[in-house]
Amino acid sequence: MKAIVHEGNTGVEGLSIREMNKPEVQGNNIRVKIHTAGMNRRDLAVITKRHQPEDPALIPGSDASGVIEAVGDKVTRFHVGDEVVVNPGLGWEKNSEAPPEGFEIVGLPDHGTFAEYYVCTEDHVEKKPEHLSYEEAGVLPLAALTAYRALFTRGKLEAGQTVMLPGIGSGVLTYILKFAKAAGARVIVTSRSKEKQIEALKLGADVAISTNDDWTTALSSESVDLLIESIGQATFNKSIATVKKGGTIVTFGSTTEDEVTINIRQFFYGQYNLLGSTMGSAEEFREMLSFVRRHKIHPKIDRLFTIDEYKQAFEYIEETKNFGKIGFVL
Ligand SMILES: NC(=O)c1ccc[n+]([C@@H]2O[C@H](COP(=O)([O-])OP(=O)(O)OC[C@H]3O[C@@H](n4cnc5c(N)ncnc54)[C@H](OP(=O)(O)O)[C@@H]3O)[C@@H](O)[C@H]2O)c1
Repeated sequence: MKAIVHEGNTGVEGLSIREMNKPEVQGNNIRVKIHTAGMNRRDLAVITKRHQPEDPALIPGSDASGVIEAVGDKVTRFHVGDEVVVNPGLGWEKNSEAPPEGFEIVGLPDHGTFAEYYVCTEDHVEKKPEHLSYEEAGVLPLAALTAYRALFTRGKLEAGQTVMLPGIGSGVLTYILKFAKAAGARVIVTSRSKEKQIEALKLGADVAISTNDDWTTALSSESVDLLIESIGQATFNKSIATVKKGGTIVTFGSTTEDEVTINIRQFFYGQYNLLGSTMGSAEEFREMLSFVRRHKIHPKIDRLFTIDEYKQAFEYIEETKNFGKIGFVL
């Protein structure tokens, strides 16, 4: 089968298109003929952190939609021909405070979805929401699951609250915008790009400002209950300064840098809540899919690539050109 493979050099230099063995199915495994494999910033992080020339060949990619084309003899939930989405989380079944020991994400350390076929156990796929095309369903899993946990499980968003989303170009944040509007919240976004601010308003955001603005001045008449922070060092202190006293910041990313210095006295006097979040459990994955079905939510797709265009795709995400999701159509 044809696949995007990473080996030898760090980063995009180590990527190539190769013929790999089509994976076998047995027992409770199913094989998915992949239609669309969504791309996430994690894919860039994976190929960037593999430094050793002796690291084994790896197919990256965590997201996919497709059709089941083979099932093992112990499979009970699915049949050949079923349309499915892949859950990118491995080893986190039930809802819990944090991922359990041994939790992994599809695409590292084992092969991922940037290939014609993907094999996993039957409990790692779910039925594709009927209102979504394969393209839409293929860019859903990782980012929409992360969005769901950050906004609802951790952020406990309620109708009527105001939520703020710095860096709305993010694939995850376009889901959070749609989920928050569906839940009856007011949504404020920021972007460095004027075009992305306008796009966000078209998607339903109530207010859009520049990431480079002074947020407290620009939002002097707003009261932000919940702020979802995924940019990290570049915006973290602005986020604390903007959320209302006693308000909550949920963080699941640090696209700029991990290390942040904060004024702890201002933080505790402000009575702020700071919560970490990640992807979620298989249970949350199913809750997210039923929320998407119930509210007929469609992912915001920015651009789809063929796998031969892998260099352009990785550069596109590295340069944060995207507004919403990108992915490969196999
Ligand atoms: N913990 C987890 O389980 C988990 C799961 C998913 C994602 N993540 C993390 O969450 C983050 C978002 O993921 P994603 O896939 O949605 O990323 P993405 O699509 O690449 O979006 C990142 C966004 O961050 C903003 N940004 C980037 N550099 C910036 C800078 N220097 N200053 C200000 N804003 C900047 C940009 O917004 P504008 O272009 O609008 O300015 C950009 O669109 C990443 O750090 C990712 O690793 C973590």
